[in-house]
Amino acid sequence: MFKPRDVPGVTCLIGRILLKPRIRLISLPTPLEYAKNFSNDLGVELFIKRDDVMEHALGGNKVRKLEFILGDALAKGANAVITRGAYHSNHARLTAAAAAKLGLEAYLVLYPPGGSEFQGNFMLDVLFGANIVEVSSPDVADEVMERLAQDLRVRGRRPYVIPGGGASPIGVYGYALAFWEIATQLYEKGKKPDYIVHATGTGATQAGLVLGRKLLGLEEVRVIGISVGKGSAPLREHIARLATESAKTLGLDLQVDPEEVVVYDDYIFGAYGNITREVAETISYAARREGLVLDPVYTAKAFYGLRDLVERGVIEKGSTVVFIHTGGTPIIFQYSNIIEDLLGKKQ
Ligand SMILES: Cc1ncc(COP(=O)(O)O)c(C=O)c1O
Repeated sequence: MFKPRDVPGVTCLIGRILLKPRIRLISLPTPLEYAKNFSNDLGVELFIKRDDVMEHALGGNKVRKLEFILGDALAKGANAVITRGAYHSNHARLTAAAAAKLGLEAYLVLYPPGGSEFQGNFMLDVLFGANIVEVSSPDVADEVMERLAQDLRVRGRRPYVIPGGGASPIGVYGYALAFWEIATQLYEKGKKPDYIVHATGTGATQAGLVLGRKLLGLEEVRVIGISVGKGSAPLREHIARLATESAKTLGLDLQVDPEEVVVYDDYIFGAYGNITREVAETISYAARREGLVLDPVYTAKAFYGLRDLVERGVIEKGSTVVFIHTGGTPIIFQYSNIIEDLLGKKQ
């Protein structure tokens, strides 16, 4: 049985990351919950890493990244943050909430999919006091953020631009540490993860997990990203690059290769943010079987993928599998009309 605290990379990984500036927003570890009903249905031993359960603004994977990104922003003297995302963006909501708490001005550049109905994450962005800049397409968002930063500088403010999804080399630290956290929690239950499965969007979560796995020398743990929008090949390249750049910021000469990154793009269901009957049925299944709330943009697609990979035999029966619930809970309310249309009010 492996012992996470004893593996040679631990001091290197933990030590180097813990020296970085960080704002503490949440208590860790988040729960790792055994899902008995899912396990019985699927024939695997399924644990859910509850990163949807956090005290910061309804939680989610972006919080782990923001702790380091905002630590960096404050260390650099920023008094405003600018970021981007879809109208339903969890990252935008969590950034706005953290900015409110830290006394920073927040600017959110938002675009479709989704809309500005006063509901879900968009409603929370407004409640957290963020300045909202609406644009018609994600293609112009980076340019708009840059212009906004220039304007703020001219007005004597000190803005810090956060890439969409917190996908910066610094943001990657969050899930490098989370990999260790998961391995340790399972070890304490006398188990070892065979698979870690989660939704992949901008790739920073997976970059962190892959980096953590490599630094701890636990390559036998297979990390599977289920893409919610982009194709597997460009995502794998991007994730490998992000992990390598992140290692560099830690002073580590380490190369992550795209071949080390596993991403399935079979569960996008048409496009990022597109919600189909299969997605709605997955939400319903998880709710009825385990009392678990999945969202239609990220976690339901990832969970559908997990079930299908077990059915296809890619994930072997009897394996120990960790599904990371990456959050996104407010989105279920933002798209309640679509879910109702797909399932019917009484199902
Ligand atoms: C709930 C949720 N799950 C998963 C993801 C994907 O994470 P990442 O962007 O780090 O790949 C996101 C953000 O994009 C998210 O908000």
